[in-house]
Amino acid sequence: MTPNDIDLVQSSFAKVVPIKEAAAELFYGRLFEIAPEVKPLFKGDMKEQGRKLMMTLGVVVNGLKDLPSIVPAAEALAVKHNAYGVEPAHYEVVGAALLWTLEQGLGPDFTPATKAAWTSAYGTLSGVMIAASARSAKDMEHTA
Ligand code: HEM
Repeated sequence: MTPNDIDLVQSSFAKVVPIKEAAAELFYGRLFEIAPEVKPLFKGDMKEQGRKLMMTLGVVVNGLKDLPSIVPAAEALAVKHNAYGVEPAHYEVVGAALLWTLEQGLGPDFTPATKAAWTSAYGTLSGVMIAASARSAKDMEHTA
């Protein structure tokens, strides 16, 4: 990610924060539409889940200028996701639902450059998470 990408992600996320509840609702609505098979993985209250998601995204977005500061938390979150039954392929549909949600929320502010910046940011985050979850699954094999 270039410094300009980071600025674009941070400034556009700031515009979503005031509508974060609606954004979270849109996000899960879209996710369950394009990937109904992941719906049963969610067992808790979806409002609460939406709050957690937006809060974590906020932490990640704020930490983009200092990636090593957020990697350990992203890795720990990935290991938890293994336990939720999340598979590597699910990261792609979640990314698609996220980009779609940003497009809905930002309208004309979701420029091609902003889209490219988010694609890069999500690619970085999901790459870290998928790698950590693969390592963790392997460790489990060895201890089984
Ligand atoms: C890549 C970015 C992602 C972020 C930032 C994220 C964030 C979170 C957070 C903060 C939680 C709550 C964890 C806790 O309770 O401590 C959570 C739970 C969960 N996430 Fe994610 N997640 C991501 C990707 C995914 C993907 C790809 C899936 C696949 C469908 C997924 C499915 C779930 C499920 C099923 C739960 C547990 C829900 C429950 O407790 O009922 N997440 N996620």
